[in-house]
Amino acid sequence: MWAEVCGGIEVSIRPPNRSALPVLEDLPPVAGRRVLVRADLNAQLRQAAAGFEVADDFRLRVSVPTLEWLLAHGAEVMVCSHLGRPKGKVDPRYSMAPVRTVMERLVPGVEVMENLRFDPGEEANDPDFVRRLVDGFDYYVNDAFGSCHRSHASIVGPPALLPSAAGRLLSHEVEVLSKVLFDPERPFVAVIGGAKVADKLGVLRSIAERADHVLVGGAMCFTFLAALGHDIGASHLEPELLDEARRLLGLHKEIELPTDVVALGPDGVVATVGAPTGTVGRFGADLPQGFQGLDIGPDTSRQFAQVIASAGTVLWNGPMGVFEDPRFCSGTRALAEAVAAGPGFSVVGGGETAAALHQFGLEDRIGHISSGGGATLEFLENGDLPGLAALRSAVSRRPG
Ligand code: 3PG
Repeated sequence: MWAEVCGGIEVSIRPPNRSALPVLEDLPPVAGRRVLVRADLNAQLRQAAAGFEVADDFRLRVSVPTLEWLLAHGAEVMVCSHLGRPKGKVDPRYSMAPVRTVMERLVPGVEVMENLRFDPGEEANDPDFVRRLVDGFDYYVNDAFGSCHRSHASIVGPPALLPSAAGRLLSHEVEVLSKVLFDPERPFVAVIGGAKVADKLGVLRSIAERADHVLVGGAMCFTFLAALGHDIGASHLEPELLDEARRLLGLHKEIELPTDVVALGPDGVVATVGAPTGTVGRFGADLPQGFQGLDIGPDTSRQFAQVIASAGTVLWNGPMGVFEDPRFCSGTRALAEAVAAGPGFSVVGGGETAAALHQFGLEDRIGHISSGGGATLEFLENGDLPGLAALRSAVSRRPG
């Protein structure tokens, strides 16, 4: 373990170990061999007249290059994945059937196994389940970046039994996120939003050590504002994290908070509260009682956008407000436009941020949109994931 001491706190972060991650070319010849591919096909479904259908095929599309490579090299390919959280029981609402329909169209010739989580052995990482899963296969490929933070059977088990490799998507995710974490072009600007500080604490701690600016918005900014003694009205507060928020603000002058916010008041009044201060810094005004902050204000949007415009690298995770509601989407939209227009390399992580970019039609102007949610956060926090560690110590030969 590689350790560094920053600001009096020891942070344990592994350096990128990409060279040790086996890739497709490291597998023995795959022609005529059966290959088990673990993908993350955990797509959002929607109810249609004829049953469920895939509502967003992003995760399915990004899994195609690995499957095409294997088929082009003569392999017989079976893809497996989880879908939702059926809790170890067969539940038709989580059947892979709608996913299979799309995959058959995207990559003819690929078979898709039923939901791994229909068996309790998957989440329990049961060795017996692993043995049954790999039975009849020659090689294993993990391309499920979005699931590599889970020590589940299909992620950490097969590399101990079969020659294994990372797929194209997994390799690319690790490469891009490692670059951001360990060797970013500067200035390195992180934009962190979303609902809860609790979900982003690990990332905030890790990124604040590395970034030149950490721009904080979303409902989580109110716990930081309250930690500075501001009245946040009826905004979302995580009282148990006030001390930690105060500690982080004390340690990292790079953390910058909104100077104004758009808030919903009694009787549906929408108001912008705060005073333009000219510099991104601490909150400019207190929120009146009964007002709930639901977006960053125009002054903050302008100032955050200016910081982004001079960035060498932008990492964005979490929306700035309730972007699904037209009254509270301006902050997220302004930042999405700034990230898309900026000269720096941009990396977006987290399903909600990707959804916001999609809503604004800007996803094609982003350097890299990560296919992971929790996995992206955990990688940015720890610099490694259980699924990657398993691949690094994979066996090189098939037993027997
Ligand atoms: C995700 O959607 O982030 C991954 O597919 C992992 O899903 P999980 O949180 O249910 O393990």
